[in-house]
Amino acid sequence: MSKILVTGGAGYIGTHTCVELLNRGEEIVVLDNFSNSTPEALENVKKITGKEVKLYEGNMIDREVLEKIFTENKIDAVIDFAAYKAVGESVQKPVEYYTNNVSTVLVLLDEMKKHNVKTLVFSSSATVYGDPEVVPITEECKVGGTTNPYGTSKLMVEQILQDLYKSDNEWNIAILRYFNPVGAHESGLIGEEPKGIPANLMPFISKVATGKLAELSVFGNDYDTKDGTGVRDYIHVVDLAIGHIKALEKLEKDGKGMHIYNLGTGTGYSVLDMINAFEKANNIKVPYKIVARRPGDIATCYSDPTKAKVELGFEATKTLEDMCRDAWNFENK
Ligand code: UFG
Repeated sequence: MSKILVTGGAGYIGTHTCVELLNRGEEIVVLDNFSNSTPEALENVKKITGKEVKLYEGNMIDREVLEKIFTENKIDAVIDFAAYKAVGESVQKPVEYYTNNVSTVLVLLDEMKKHNVKTLVFSSSATVYGDPEVVPITEECKVGGTTNPYGTSKLMVEQILQDLYKSDNEWNIAILRYFNPVGAHESGLIGEEPKGIPANLMPFISKVATGKLAELSVFGNDYDTKDGTGVRDYIHVVDLAIGHIKALEKLEKDGKGMHIYNLGTGTGYSVLDMINAFEKANNIKVPYKIVARRPGDIATCYSDPTKAKVELGFEATKTLEDMCRDAWNFENK
């Protein structure tokens, strides 16, 4: 059993990962400032697992809270989820995004170094690939050409971690590039709770299905894809959480190294596929209309998940139906 610090552990992917860690008997310490999450989400993690979570409320930029955590707990590894993640908002608030997504990580790394904790799993994003030259995207594909501060902030931290590892290869780092996480825990107790009108497809579909929003706007049907709508690699958030466990296991086994993995399913679905799947899985109508493309969107993005399969033994097992059913179940609870 080891003790893991989970920053941003009350968030969407954080809570699901906490559940998987606790189910595997790990001890966890969560740092969260609830800027985009709630204490109730962590209460629900306890409900699901029947286990305790030690919480520190605070911001990762605050060295004192990190100092306290590393002094009061013998931390073996850190999973860093704490970040802002809204692409559109990042264009409006670049300073806030670079501060919250990059400066905070520098403080974290410095504190980890000081306390000789050198095992880190970092939340990155497929957005670092920009507009991919080829699909499926392997980890060797070129990164860069990000079109918003959110994406650039993830790319910057990836570079910082590469430089850190070069300077001291006692570090043991896994960078995980998520594709499109959707769905929720099957209990319906934790899931994605965006504040205000959702920017992402799946939470938007759920809100339309409830009738809280009148209809979905499909952003463009003139892309070079099978039905003209954007194609993405949607991965169930519980699968994604398990990917973190597999990455941690790999780091524990190897002791040191610098690794990058795509976490996706390897299958691309279009917006219309998603609407149809949601309607079928939940027997409910999702009214939609076709509108203009959303600026900054790309046609197609899906992963080649081979590396994670070969090196981590990780493979997403949940289906599109599971994603749609669990998203709807959460929305209703
Ligand atoms: N879409 C719509 N209508 C909506 C919302 C989305 O048609 O109301 C379409 C988009 O045009 C796109 C697809 O649904 O084709 C998925 O859009 P999302 O906003 O759900 O997701 P993105 O692929 O744009 O971005 C997501 C995350 C990013 C992350 C990226 C990685 O939001 O944080 O995946 O690939 F970087």
